[in-house]
Amino acid sequence: MTETILWHPVALSQSLGVGPRPFSLLGRDGVLWRDGQAQPHAWADRCPHRGTQLSLGRVVDGRLQCAYHGWQFDSSARCVHVPALPGFAPPATHCAERFEVAEYCGLLWVRLEPGEASLPAFEAEADAKLRKLNCGPYEVHSSAPRVVENFLDMAHFGFVHEGWLGDAAHTAVPAYEVQESANGIKATQCRAWQPRSSLNASGGMMVEYTYEVIAPYTAVLTKLPLEQQGYREAIALFVCPVEPERSVVWFRLAVTDFTSSDASLRAFQDTIFAQDKPVVESQTPKCLPLGAQAERHCAADKASMAYRRYLQSLAVCFGVM
Ligand code: FES
Ligand SMILES: [Fe+2]
Repeated sequence: MTETILWHPVALSQSLGVGPRPFSLLGRDGVLWRDGQAQPHAWADRCPHRGTQLSLGRVVDGRLQCAYHGWQFDSSARCVHVPALPGFAPPATHCAERFEVAEYCGLLWVRLEPGEASLPAFEAEADAKLRKLNCGPYEVHSSAPRVVENFLDMAHFGFVHEGWLGDAAHTAVPAYEVQESANGIKATQCRAWQPRSSLNASGGMMVEYTYEVIAPYTAVLTKLPLEQQGYREAIALFVCPVEPERSVVWFRLAVTDFTSSDASLRAFQDTIFAQDKPVVESQTPKCLPLGAQAERHCAADKASMAYRRYLQSLAVCFGVM
């Protein structure tokens, strides 16, 4: 597979005013900006005139203006004004390279090449009863698959998140199930003793989760409705594969905590992710090794082994080896 035909998150929607601002995806440099109707655009960060970064420019009258000679590009990426030749009508070939862009789950998503793939569907996003909030970006000096695999891993809770998501006295991972699902893999009956599973958790409790991988670099954790009847809280992990060994991570929370401030909910996720980050960044190789013998596994790693097989079946090549 070429990952360029998939949608990838590149920035928080809210972080883009009119722009322009640069982004990086799959080793390519891009520019994001908004036109006069606030519609987002994602283009290659390169002016077709002399190769200057368009992200150095500015938005003027709903057009993106290059910083070097002031060529202006309209929302279709066509050059419509060349200040050095005011009477000149540029031909259609005077245009920037355009990517597809979409806004979803509080993020801007980009697809570098047209394809069949749709945006990864985060089901809880459609549940109007749940509160939605983005956390991140978190920059990680490792591959996107290493980040996803860490998200699926329960055996580290009692060590990396002791006193938070895990407890040194409860490190056993009870047996769980892994199946293939429509878009990836699904691990069910994942149980863990968590001292503090969320910001408002009152004391430790046994929690049960479902983990799903719904795209090569997207995973969702859904909590079983033990307490809040009728609510299915979920957290999506969205990872941007910036370079093979560099990623940017966001979480999308869909939760029932309607009282805590945005800042305190984010601070909780920041704390948890700050615990994961040094461990993930220390893993070598940074690209996830897919060979069956590359790393040693145990039965608690069923989800991660299924994830590796899934990446292999799709012939994913960015961030793996
Ligand atoms: S390089 Fe962009 S206008 Fe000349
Ligand atoms: Fe973790």
